[in-house]
Amino acid sequence: DTVEWDPEETGKSGYEHYMLKEIHEQPRALRQCLRGRVDELSGTVDIGDLGDLSPTGVQFVACGTSYHAALHGAQLFREAGIPSQAFLASEYATATPPIGDALVVGVTQSGETADTLSALRAARRRGARTLAVTNVVGSTAARECDHALYIRAGPEIGVAATKTFASQLAALNLLALGTSSTGDARQVISALRDLPGHVQEILDESAAQEIAEIYQDADAYFFIGRGYHEPVALEGALKMKEITYKHAEGFAAGELKHGPLALVTENTPVFAIVTGDDERARKTVGNVKEVEARDAPVVAITDGQSDVSRYADHVLELPETHPRAAAVLANIHLQLVSYHTAALLGRNIDKPRNLAKSVTVE
Ligand code: AGP
Repeated sequence: DTVEWDPEETGKSGYEHYMLKEIHEQPRALRQCLRGRVDELSGTVDIGDLGDLSPTGVQFVACGTSYHAALHGAQLFREAGIPSQAFLASEYATATPPIGDALVVGVTQSGETADTLSALRAARRRGARTLAVTNVVGSTAARECDHALYIRAGPEIGVAATKTFASQLAALNLLALGTSSTGDARQVISALRDLPGHVQEILDESAAQEIAEIYQDADAYFFIGRGYHEPVALEGALKMKEITYKHAEGFAAGELKHGPLALVTENTPVFAIVTGDDERARKTVGNVKEVEARDAPVVAITDGQSDVSRYADHVLELPETHPRAAAVLANIHLQLVSYHTAALLGRNIDKPRNLAKSVTVE
C-alpha cells in the first residue's frame, strides 16, 4: 500500500493555510519567548548581557509589520523616560537622523530585509551601537549587529507576519524591562505571563469569522486606536490589505477627523480598539461616536471597561489586562478577521500576489 504524502500539507498540521496554523501557534511562541527570561516573584527580567546596555536613547529601524512592533517598542522606552523613536528603515537608510549616543535597534523577523540592514549599516558607520531583534539565529542582522535578542517564534512560512509580531511585542517588552526601569514592571511581567492563556481564549472564542462574513463585501476597512493600540490599528490594516487585496487604512484615532473621516460611509466598517476607561479610552470613544454618527458600522475591540459598546454594532471581546498585553490580544482578533475575509474571497493567503516573505532589495 502507498500513502499520498504532501510535506507542505503535513507542515500545515491539518490547518488549511500556514497563516492560520501560525496564528494558532501564538500561545506557544509567546511561552518560548518568555521562557527563562522573566521572574514574576522578584519582578525582574533576564535578557543576558543585554541587560547591561542601559541606553540613554533608542532609535528603532524596521519595515512593515516589524515597523509596527518598533512603534510599540519606542513607546515602551519613552514611557520609561528614555527618548526613543521608530523610523521606517528605508527612510533612515537614506536620511539618517542625528544618532548621538542612542542604541539603534533593528526589528526584523527574517534578519535579511535589505532596507533594515542598510539602515543598521548606516548607523554603524556613524559609530552607533546596534542591536538586532530577530527570529532567525545566524541571520545577517544578527551577525552584523553588536548584539542580538531572539524572539523565538519558530519558523514562519506564511508571507503575512502573525506569530512573529506577537513575539516581537513580547521581546520588546522584555528589552525595555531589562534595560530601563518602569514603575509598573511587576504588573507588566504578570500581564506577559498571562498572555499565552489569554491568546488561547481569543483563539477559542473570537467572533472574528462572523464579522468577516458580514463585511466581506465592504468598500474599505478602517482601524483606529490610541497609544499602544495605534500600532495595532496600522498592523490590522496592513494585514487586511496584504491578504485580501482590499483597501484598508489604520489611523491614530485622533487623526480620523483631520481628513480620513471624509472616506467613512455605511460601507466602510471601522474597527476601534479601546481598552481601559482612562482619558485615552474616553477620547477614542469620542472618535467612535464621530464615525457612528456617519452611519459607519463599528466593530469595537474592547475589554468592556469603557462605554464604547454602546456605539458599536459588534464587539470583539478582550480580557482586562495591562494595555501593552491588550495590544497583542487585540491584534489576534484582527488577524482572524483578515484571515477569514481573505478565505471567503478565495485569496492566495500564504503567498499573496506581488509579495515575498523576505524583501532583499531596497
Ligand atoms: C508583514 O505581513 C509583511 N510580510 C512585511 O511587512 C514584513 O513585516 C516586512 O517585510 C519586514 O520583514 P522582516 O521583519 O523580516 O524584516
